[in-house]
Amino acid sequence: MRCFIQFNWRCLGRFSCLLPLIVSGCQESVKIAPVAEEKAALALPGWVKDSVYLDPSNPYTGAKAVLGRYFFYDRRLSVNQTKSCASCHAPEFSFTDSYRRSIGALGDNVQYNAPPLINLVYNRFLTWADTSLHFPEQQIQNPMFHTRPVELGWEGHEAEILHRIEKDSLYAAKLPALFPGGRHAFTTKHVQDCISSFVKTIVSVAAPYDKFVQTQDSSRLSPEAWRGQVLFSSASLNCGHCHSGINFNRPDNTISITNSPAHPPFRVPTLRNLRFTAPYLHDGASSTLEEALDQHMKDLGLHAKTVGRKLNSSQRTDLIHFLYSLSDSSVLNKPAYSNPFKFDETKQSGQH
Ligand code: HEC
Ligand code: HEC
Repeated sequence: MRCFIQFNWRCLGRFSCLLPLIVSGCQESVKIAPVAEEKAALALPGWVKDSVYLDPSNPYTGAKAVLGRYFFYDRRLSVNQTKSCASCHAPEFSFTDSYRRSIGALGDNVQYNAPPLINLVYNRFLTWADTSLHFPEQQIQNPMFHTRPVELGWEGHEAEILHRIEKDSLYAAKLPALFPGGRHAFTTKHVQDCISSFVKTIVSVAAPYDKFVQTQDSSRLSPEAWRGQVLFSSASLNCGHCHSGINFNRPDNTISITNSPAHPPFRVPTLRNLRFTAPYLHDGASSTLEEALDQHMKDLGLHAKTVGRKLNSSQRTDLIHFLYSLSDSSVLNKPAYSNPFKFDETKQSGQH
C-alpha cells in the first residue's frame, strides 16, 4: 500500500478533545477560542481538523474582513504613502514579495524574508523567531510601529495616518458602523482588527496534494511527486518530524532547533505554495528550491545522519516535485483576496 502523510485529524469532528492538550502546552498568553461559529464564519474547510487559533479580543465578522481588505492594500497606511501590507505580502507571490529581505517605507531592508500569509489561523506561532506572537492582532503591531527599521512608519505618525484615512469616504461610512462608539471608531486597534480579520480569511488548501488527500485518487500526483512523498516521510529523512500538520510546519510545536551555530532557532515555515514564494529560508539567501534544500539539509546535519544515503539528484528532483504538489495557485488571483481598489470604480484615486 502506498503511504501518505496524514494531517492532524485524530480528533475529527471533536475539536474539544484537542483543547486540554493544547492549553496545557501553551504559554499563558495563548487563548484558544473553541468557537464553532467563528470557524464557520471563516468558511474554513471542514476536512482540515488542525486546531484554530483566534484572538478573543477580536471576534471574527465578515464585515470587518471586507473593510480590512481595503486597509491591507491601501498605501495611505504608511507614513509616506508608499507601502501597504500588500507591498510585502502580494497575492501573486502567495502573499510574499519575491525579495530576499523586504523593503520598508523608508527604503531599509527588514530583518527577514516575508512569509506567505496563508492559513494563518492554523499557526500557533507567528513570525520567524518570536515565540510571543500567536495572532495577527498581536503581530500587526510590528509592521506598523517598528522603527529599526521602519516598515509602515506609524510610530510618531499615528494621529496623522488615522486622520488621513478618516477623510476617506468609504472608511468614514463603514468603520463607525462596525464598532460600538460610532464616531470614535478611528482608532489604531479598530484598523488592526479589520486587517487581522481579512488576513485570517486567506486559506490555501487546494493544492494537488490536498486533492489527493480528499479523494484518495492517486492520479492527482505525478509519479515523481509520489516518490518524493515517500522520501519525505522516510525514516532516514523524516521531514515530517518538523513539517507536519495542515501547513507542514509543526503546528503544535514551537521553534525548531537547527544544528548550525550560525542560526538562532527558527519557527518551522510552511511548505505550502513554495512554487510562488522564492527566494527561500529566513534570510531569503536561496533563490531556488534546489539551493534551499541543499542548504537546509546541511544546516540540519541531515547529510551526516544519512551517510551512505545522501540524496542523489533524481531523489532531490522527486522531493521537489512532491514539494511543488503542495502549491495551490488558486490563491494568487482569487477575487476575495485581491486588491479591491482595482475593482471598485469609486476607489481609483491613485491607489495601487
Ligand atoms: C516592509 C515589508 C512588510 C510590510 C509592509 C508588512 N510586512 Fe508582514 N511581514 C514581513 C516580514 C519580513 C515578516 C517576517 C517577520 C519576522 O519573522 O520577524 C512578516 C510577517 C508577517 C506575519 C506573520 C506571518 C507568519 O506566518 O508568521 C503577518 C501575519 C504579517 N506579516 C502581516 C502583515 C500585515 C497585516 C501588514 C500590514 C499592516 C504587514 N504584514 C506589513 C514584511 C512586511
Ligand atoms: C528539525 C526540524 C526540521 C526538519 C527535520 C526538516 N526541516 Fe525543513 N525547515 C525547518 C526550519 C526551522 C526551516 C527554516 C530554516 C531557515 O529559514 O533557515 C525549514 C525550512 C525548509 C524549507 C524552506 C521553506 C521556505 O519557505 O523558505 C524547505 C523547502 C524545507 N524546510 C524542506 C524540508 C525537507 C524536504 C525536509 C526533509 C529532508 C526538512 N525540511 C526537514 C525545520 C526542519
